[in-house]
Amino acid sequence: MTENAGSRLYSGVMTPADRTWPPASAPVPTALATRIVDLSAIARNIRRIREHTGTGLMAVVKADGFGHGWLEVAHTALDAGAEWLGVATVDEALALRGAGVTAPVLCWLADPWTALADAVKQRVTISCANRETLEAVALAARDAGVTAQVHLELDTGMSRGGASEDEWLALCAAAAVLQAAGYLVATGLWSHLALAVDPDPSSTRVQREAFDRGVVVARAAGLAPATLHLANSAGALEHPDTWLDLVRCGASLYGIETVRGRTHGLEPAMRVVSRVTQLRRVQAGTGVSYGHAYVARRETTLVLVPVGYGDGIPRGLSSGGEVVIRGLRHPVVGAISMDQLVVDARDHPVALGDEVVLLGSPERGEPDAQEWADVTGTISHEILTGLGGRMVRRHINTDMKVTS
Ligand SMILES: Cc1ncc(COP(=O)(O)O)c(C=O)c1O
Repeated sequence: MTENAGSRLYSGVMTPADRTWPPASAPVPTALATRIVDLSAIARNIRRIREHTGTGLMAVVKADGFGHGWLEVAHTALDAGAEWLGVATVDEALALRGAGVTAPVLCWLADPWTALADAVKQRVTISCANRETLEAVALAARDAGVTAQVHLELDTGMSRGGASEDEWLALCAAAAVLQAAGYLVATGLWSHLALAVDPDPSSTRVQREAFDRGVVVARAAGLAPATLHLANSAGALEHPDTWLDLVRCGASLYGIETVRGRTHGLEPAMRVVSRVTQLRRVQAGTGVSYGHAYVARRETTLVLVPVGYGDGIPRGLSSGGEVVIRGLRHPVVGAISMDQLVVDARDHPVALGDEVVLLGSPERGEPDAQEWADVTGTISHEILTGLGGRMVRRHINTDMKVTS
């Protein structure tokens, strides 16, 4: 074949020589899709939040750092000024300690059946919302010969975790007894916001008032908690009366603007890219993928992208999802399969090997997790934590030009 780089094999389909990704100088990765996490974006997000609230910050790195890599995010967060790390499970906390992270870590889903000895020995702060867990922590501390640190959780309106206001005095009194015996110290009190994504502050104010009552009760019971915390990302970004000593931020670290219509200059930290693996030109009337839910209305170019719901791409993007190839948006068409999806590129030039941006930066016209969440009827948190499967993950630091 003697065609030059700009020529077409047939209308709309370019030759492999024209591909845009990976660049000719880069090795061709074996993985078909990659999550690229820019740690410098996370660091900038953290600095923005800290400047905004002027409080301490607990970086929430549970669920593998919302899919961004728990250890890389933990180091980045601490370097950027976060004082605390927050996780759900004791295993997540112990993984941080096992990796040499010595910063304060709070874990909020221990129960009386959780093995707690290692956690108390390794100075993991354990959240307690009932006497049973408090006593399990005290026993573990006694056996280990250490004093455990606990934060007591009050339910101020979330009705998920936490002691109810009715149970709170008894919980605080039990903590005071165990504290006097030297088994533990209640160093903090906390609660979680249910409605902070609502810019109207009234419900959040009700929670703050309930929290204030809880602090008074705890102090009257003889506790002297030094660290009070209530705000999640939405509270940190929008509701100053929830800031207290620490804000506990997850979503915002990763660039999710949690309150609709409000932007705080946060940058999405994750890009998801794949590449064009097959191309075909089809006639009008051609049905695409399982069930032929999409039928081409005219002659067009179909592009195969080798990722699917087995990698966390929601099937709900089968209608309404879009990707970017060569700077142009193209619709996902037909049912997304476990390993593959199809894009309709119409007559736009596309070549085998072209980069396909699945998630990127809205500033560059690329879809972000919020866009996927809107199309599929969920929230960005679920999109980001659901990604994975066979995708590889690569960390970069665009400030330092470091990649791993
Ligand atoms: C107890 C607790 N605190 C804080 C967070 C962080 O919330 P967000 O991601 O909205 O900042 C979470 C996350 O789900 C959480 O469960």
